[in-house]
Amino acid sequence: MHIQIERFDDELEDLIKKVYNNPFRSFVKMNGVTMSETHKKFSDAIENFQVRDDDVWVCSIPKSGTTWTQEMVWCIANDLDYERGKISLTDRFPYFDLSARSEWPAILKANPGIQIRREMVDSVNYVADLPSPRFIKTHLPFKFLPRQLRTGEKKPKIIYIARNAKDTCISRYHYCRITENLQGSFEDWCNLFLQGGVMYGPYWKHVLGYWEQRIEDNVLFLKYEDMKQDLPSVIKKTATFLGKNLTTDQLSSLTEHLSFESMKLNPAANNEDLIHLMKEITPSKFEGKFMRSGKINQWKSEMTPDMIERFDQWTRENLKGTGLSF
Ligand code: A3P
Repeated sequence: MHIQIERFDDELEDLIKKVYNNPFRSFVKMNGVTMSETHKKFSDAIENFQVRDDDVWVCSIPKSGTTWTQEMVWCIANDLDYERGKISLTDRFPYFDLSARSEWPAILKANPGIQIRREMVDSVNYVADLPSPRFIKTHLPFKFLPRQLRTGEKKPKIIYIARNAKDTCISRYHYCRITENLQGSFEDWCNLFLQGGVMYGPYWKHVLGYWEQRIEDNVLFLKYEDMKQDLPSVIKKTATFLGKNLTTDQLSSLTEHLSFESMKLNPAANNEDLIHLMKEITPSKFEGKFMRSGKINQWKSEMTPDMIERFDQWTRENLKGTGLSF
C-alpha cells in the first residue's frame, strides 16, 4: 500500500493541537485518514503481514463496543471456556496495530520505570508469532489492513462492530479525557470528531469501508445497538457465522457473562489495567472506568440540540444511499 501524507487544513491542525495537548501524540493525514505519525514505521510490516485462514479478526473504530464483541467472539469460538477466559482479554485477543498508534520509544524514554510488554511495542510481530487460531483486534480502516485481507487472498473471519456516531463520540471523549488528558471543551471534541480529526477518522469512512465488505461471506457486520436490544440474537448470529452451535443453557450463560454488570466486574475483560497504564504515561485530572455507562442514546442528555442536529445532518449525508442506518 502506498502511503501518502497530506497536511491538515490550518483550522483542523489548530483544533487537533488544542484538544490533544499530549507530548506523545503526533497526528498526520495519511491516505485521507487521521493516523498516528508512528504508523509509517509499521506500514510495510502491516501490509505484508501473513494472514491465516483460521484467524478471527474483530475490527472497529474505538469505543464502538470492541471489547464487548471480542469477549463474545472469543467465548463462542472457544466453546465457552470461562476458565481460560480468566486470562486477560488483551492476551487472548491482542491488539494488532497497538505499536503503530503510540510513540512507545518516546514514552519509554520519558518513563523508564514503566513496564511495557512486547505486544505493545512490537504488536505486529507479536501477533505474527502466535499459534493458530489467532484472535486479533484492530482499529485500522479496511484500506489499511494487510494486503492478504484486502484482496481476499486469505479469508479469515472478520467481525466489524459499529455504533451510533453520537454515542461513540461521547464515549471516546470520556475515555480520552482520562487516558490522554484532553484539553478543550466537549464542543471542541465534537467538532474534531465531525471534521475527521480524531484518530482513524473520518468516522463514516471507517464504518462504510467495512459496510461495503459485508457481502463477503467471511465478513459479519454488527451494531452495538442490536447487542443492547437483543444480545441473545446477536450471540446466535455470531455463533452461526463462526460455525458453532449453542445450547439454550449455553446461550443464557453467555448472555449473563456478557452483561455490562458482569463484564464490569470481570478483571480479564474490563481493561482497567490499560486505563491504569495510560494514566501513568499521561497523568490526567479526570477519573473514570473503562466500563463507564454501557448505554445507548447517551447523546440525548449529553449533547445540545444544535450539536445533535449537526451530527444527524452529517450522518444523513454520509449514509445516503448506502442502506446503512442507526
Ligand atoms: P461507554 O463509554 O459508552 O460506556 P470499546 O471496547 O470499543 O473501547 O468500547 C467501549 C464502550 O463499550 C464503552 O462505552 C463501554 O462501557 C461499552 N461496553 C463494554 N462492555 C459492554 C457491555 N458488556 N455492555 C454494554 N456496553 C459495554
